[in-house]
Amino acid sequence: VDRELLAWLRAEPGAGTATPDGITDDMLARFRALRDEFQQLRMIYRFGIDEVSTKIDILRQEFESTYDYSPIEHVRTRLKSPDSMLTKALRQGTELAVPAIRAEIRDIAGIRITCSFVSDVYWIAEMLSTQADLRLLTTKDYIAHPKPNGYRSLHLIVEVPVFLSRTVEHVTVELQIRTIAMDFWASMEHKLHYKYRAEMPPHLAAEIEDAARLAADLDDRMGRLRDEVRPSPHQHDD
Ligand code: GTP
Ligand code: MG
Repeated sequence: VDRELLAWLRAEPGAGTATPDGITDDMLARFRALRDEFQQLRMIYRFGIDEVSTKIDILRQEFESTYDYSPIEHVRTRLKSPDSMLTKALRQGTELAVPAIRAEIRDIAGIRITCSFVSDVYWIAEMLSTQADLRLLTTKDYIAHPKPNGYRSLHLIVEVPVFLSRTVEHVTVELQIRTIAMDFWASMEHKLHYKYRAEMPPHLAAEIEDAARLAADLDDRMGRLRDEVRPSPHQHDD
């Protein structure tokens, strides 16, 4: 029934659309309420993104003015739409209620940081996760342990406090930190994955894996070159 409701809710072009059979006024009321709660929830997660983005931007500006070099190449943020939240909740069997969704969907707020070098990835992760008001909940190191398809990135789930007028909300934010080469590979893999869904032709899957090895090799080489050209500021400190 939740799936039917979701489908109906998505198709709804506006008020006054005929309700499909089997969907009661009660269910509609529940879904409308959930939708409103999601709107509120999105605002809070938007604030979470703002808090963490500011931290990243402060680091970037400090680096640019102090070292003339920033380990942060670019930053992109994204907020899950209410539809994606619902879809994910239904897919993983999460109860359709705000507390359950907040606890079980930890990538409602997402920030992707792209760096030039692999060492920068860990360096940024360290600088952020040691900040006193950021709580590191989980780390998944797909650089040390790439996925079978070759996917590499460092994923952190962090929790940041957001101070509202009456309460403090602890918001989880997914951080994906990766090099330009990793990002290049991931965006291509994502496109192919979506194009073929489950039916990826074997030669393409092999091609993707091979490209991941090339990207990793490029990262190694760039790292060695960079060490020759200019020791990074954090290496100076040792
Ligand atoms: P969800 O896929 O979000 O449910 O997360 P998960 O619990 O499986 O976590 P994981 O850390 O493995 O992946 C989180 C995110 O990393 C995904 O939503 C993607 O953005 C990215 N990601 C993970 N694996 C791949 C991959 O093989 N290819 C690409 N392009 N991106 C990936
Ligand atoms: Mg995700």
